[in-house]
Amino acid sequence: MRQILLTLSLLALASCGQSTTPTSATPQAPGARSTDEIQAALAALPAPYSDANYDEGRRAFAQCRSCHTINAGGANRVGPNLHGVFGREVGTAASFNYSQAVQDADFVWDADRLDDWLANPQSFLPGNRMAFAGVRSDEQRRDLIAYLMIESAED
Ligand code: HEC
Repeated sequence: MRQILLTLSLLALASCGQSTTPTSATPQAPGARSTDEIQAALAALPAPYSDANYDEGRRAFAQCRSCHTINAGGANRVGPNLHGVFGREVGTAASFNYSQAVQDADFVWDADRLDDWLANPQSFLPGNRMAFAGVRSDEQRRDLIAYLMIESAED
């Protein structure tokens, strides 16, 4: 599983910025992720994330990209790099200056906590500095979290 996730992450990196002009001779651009690979990664996630829509999750992450990178070694922007966020103690991305509220919090990020945080960051952890209203739709959060699980996987 880890190997699959790593491979997917690397493929995602490799495909960054490439223009894909599929022809019959090259059904798939080099480095592009096949539908089968995405489906396999999704199927390996715990329910309900195994039923998520990856493309919708990627679209939902557009709301986060201005502030967050998700690739391994990605820069901190307005918000911290999110690589490896699942299983990570809150507020511990390297070299990021967190608010006092986040520094004082003490838990490990898992899907349920991410779900609460993304539904309403301010009610989940009052006083934090993430200027983001939240994702109201349960389905959109499911898709987004599945996308985060796949894309933030540690190697
Ligand atoms: C306007 C910028 C901004 C946007 C948009 C934004 N964030 Fe954040 N995010 C932050 C900041 C700033 C923090 C640190 C908060 C603090 O220290 O109080 C943060 C913290 C986080 C954390 C906690 C990380 C840790 O290391 O504990 C997660 C997880 C997170 N954001 C996910 C997301 C996701 C997913 C989205 C999109 C739905 C998103 N954020 C949208 C700015 C943003």
